[in-house]
Amino acid sequence: MAKILKVGVIGLGGIARGAHIPGYKALDNVTLVAGADVDPKARKAAREECGIPDVYDSYAEMLEKHPDLDLVSVCTGNRMHKDPTIAALKAGCHVLVEKPIAMNAQDGQAMVDAAKKYGRRLMVGVNCRFDAKSQALKRLIDDGALGEVYAAKAIATRRRGIPSWGVFSQKAESGGGPLIDIGVHCLDLAMYLMGYPKPVAVSGATYAKFGKRPPEDMIDWRWNPRKFDVEDYASAFVRLENHACLTLEASWASNIDHDVFNVEILGDKGGCTWNPCKLYSSRAGVLINLEPVRMPEVRSHSEEIRLYVDAILNDKETPAPAEQVLETQRILDGIYASSEKNQEVWLRKPPATRKKR
Ligand SMILES: NC(=O)c1ccc[n+]([C@@H]2O[C@H](COP(=O)([O-])OP(=O)(O)OC[C@H]3O[C@@H](n4cnc5c(N)ncnc54)[C@H](O)[C@@H]3O)[C@@H](O)[C@H]2O)c1
Repeated sequence: MAKILKVGVIGLGGIARGAHIPGYKALDNVTLVAGADVDPKARKAAREECGIPDVYDSYAEMLEKHPDLDLVSVCTGNRMHKDPTIAALKAGCHVLVEKPIAMNAQDGQAMVDAAKKYGRRLMVGVNCRFDAKSQALKRLIDDGALGEVYAAKAIATRRRGIPSWGVFSQKAESGGGPLIDIGVHCLDLAMYLMGYPKPVAVSGATYAKFGKRPPEDMIDWRWNPRKFDVEDYASAFVRLENHACLTLEASWASNIDHDVFNVEILGDKGGCTWNPCKLYSSRAGVLINLEPVRMPEVRSHSEEIRLYVDAILNDKETPAPAEQVLETQRILDGIYASSEKNQEVWLRKPPATRKKR
């Protein structure tokens, strides 16, 4: 009989009920058996609206009562990624932890080490790479459509979009502002499309121009400006081990025309953008643009879960392995450090020389 994975969910809030639970429920090779949340309202909703039969106020108790769980989604806030992930790995479960991997790379490394120690697969919920546009570009890039890839731009900027709810504006809870909230998505996507060359050095600057003094044009803001201690804008330049480079811009608020989420990749034979999903090249002396005619309709979160389950059941490569996504956290940590020191920060030993570009 085909194996059915037993799944538990830790943290039963927005992303769990909006994406993970529906993603698992759509599959016939998993069964959702348990959940845990410290909030009684979230537990009630998970039981009554999502039909999770067994819910707990403690994830430790959930893991203890269900020693046969195969897979756990960790959907708690950023500060609570590390401990439940390591506990679930130790209990013998594969773990899908939401993005960002952790509050910082040190915690992320501890999670990666635990996965290795307990022989389980740890994946990070960087769902943007499972979007149809991302997958189309990845296939084209891997097929050589861009030639040698040497530069990327990743951008996630909002005109006025500081989250008003939750703990987004508190560094001790979230680890950072738009960089770690939305920048991490376009950064992972750009790195994924480039084949994840290791970052070598980072130069960055962060600012908080709106969160500490919300302007009159900002409506319905509900955070405490005196407690706002994350950035609301960041810009960075990243050197990669293969001598390629990447720029990253992320904001929750900035004086721009409209919100942007995009990735641009440049190669010596062609370039591409994620939105619109297009290739820019030349052939026979003619500049040409190419775009896919048809795209599959997939929801990136559901696709992420489907591929992860398939990888576990059929011994395939983990689609967003934590040790890879940890590099994005190293970059983010580097940006914060560089901004504070006001200088470029080396993440790895610099290559002796730059090859001819
Ligand atoms: N990939 C995406 O598109 C995406 C979108 C939204 C959020 N996220 C990520 O998902 C995570 C959760 O975000 P959210 O919007 O669902 O937040 P949320 O606040 O709606 O849900 C988090 C839940 O975790 C619970 N919780 C806190 N401490 C706990 C503990 N010790 N044990 C069990 N439960 C606990 C809270 O009570 C809450 O119900 C964040 O890390 C966020 O970055 C990812």
